[in-house]
Amino acid sequence: MQRLVSVLRQDGVDKELIHLVNVLGTACKEINFRLHQGALAGVLGSTQDENVQGEVQKKLDVIANTLLKDLLLQSGLVKALASEEEDDIVIGNKDGDFLVSFDPLDGSSNIDINAMVGTIFSVYRADDSLVIDESSFLRPGREQVAAGYVIYGPATLMVLTTGQGVRMYTLDQTIGEYLMTEPQVQVPADTQEFAINMSNQRHWAKPMQDYIDDLLKGAEGPRGKNFNMRWVAAMVADVHRILCRGGLFTYPWDRRAPEKAGKLRLMYEANPMALLIEQAGGAASTGTERILDIQPEQIHQRVAVVLGAANEVDMVEQYYRHQR
Ligand code: F6P
Repeated sequence: MQRLVSVLRQDGVDKELIHLVNVLGTACKEINFRLHQGALAGVLGSTQDENVQGEVQKKLDVIANTLLKDLLLQSGLVKALASEEEDDIVIGNKDGDFLVSFDPLDGSSNIDINAMVGTIFSVYRADDSLVIDESSFLRPGREQVAAGYVIYGPATLMVLTTGQGVRMYTLDQTIGEYLMTEPQVQVPADTQEFAINMSNQRHWAKPMQDYIDDLLKGAEGPRGKNFNMRWVAAMVADVHRILCRGGLFTYPWDRRAPEKAGKLRLMYEANPMALLIEQAGGAASTGTERILDIQPEQIHQRVAVVLGAANEVDMVEQYYRHQR
């Protein structure tokens, strides 16, 4: 089986980006180790703090954030970084080639029940400007040069795109290397499986309520087929399932917080997942526009997300179009 670095070389990826992916992979190996130690390392449970999103921070959120931040800054490759767990961007090396955004531990409410979590990352090439501030990060997701995640499950995998499709690498813990186990991930255009937090249905906008109602009517309803539902409550795990066996994932706008476009974060959740899904032949939308075309306004901005099987994403967009 081929090692991550040799696959990237073969793909013609430049050496700085290979080095950066390696640094991300190294930090994630360390996070993986801490996660597997669990209660033995005293890392379960919450801190006393909240992050900038007003969410209670888990101890492992903070540990994972520190590990990634320290290794990325030490590498000298990063001009600045943005993290779910940092209020503001963190400035790195002024000559660094990259801007990196990440969610150090997505789905962290799963930690305490020993269920799947993951690290999501998004990489842009930095420009030459001398001033680095939040606005340096505010570029549409289609400009990402790499995006991926590391999922910590029964096996630990890195799922990565550098713009030549999506490949999966399984961490071989005996040698500490990511080895390619799936060279070409494809998301089928059609599906009979969806992922959504159904308990919020009464709070969604009417197009989403109607779309899901029609799925639930099954073979007797307008869609003429039965649908299955899955929800892990960690985006990284729900998207991973879609990359493995297809499906549709959505976290829509919700009238309880009408001022927020959605729950998920654009820069370090929706954008990297949207690039992976598109690179695997699927689609990613807000219901009304392509996620990768959104011009970001803030690093922590939220967005509604509908992604996965291309024909099903298109169907959701049709419900929104017809009810405008
Ligand atoms: O980052 C937010 C997140 O944990 C996602 O990973 C996940 O998809 C979602 O929230 C779960 O939301 P809920 O708590 O509504 O199931």
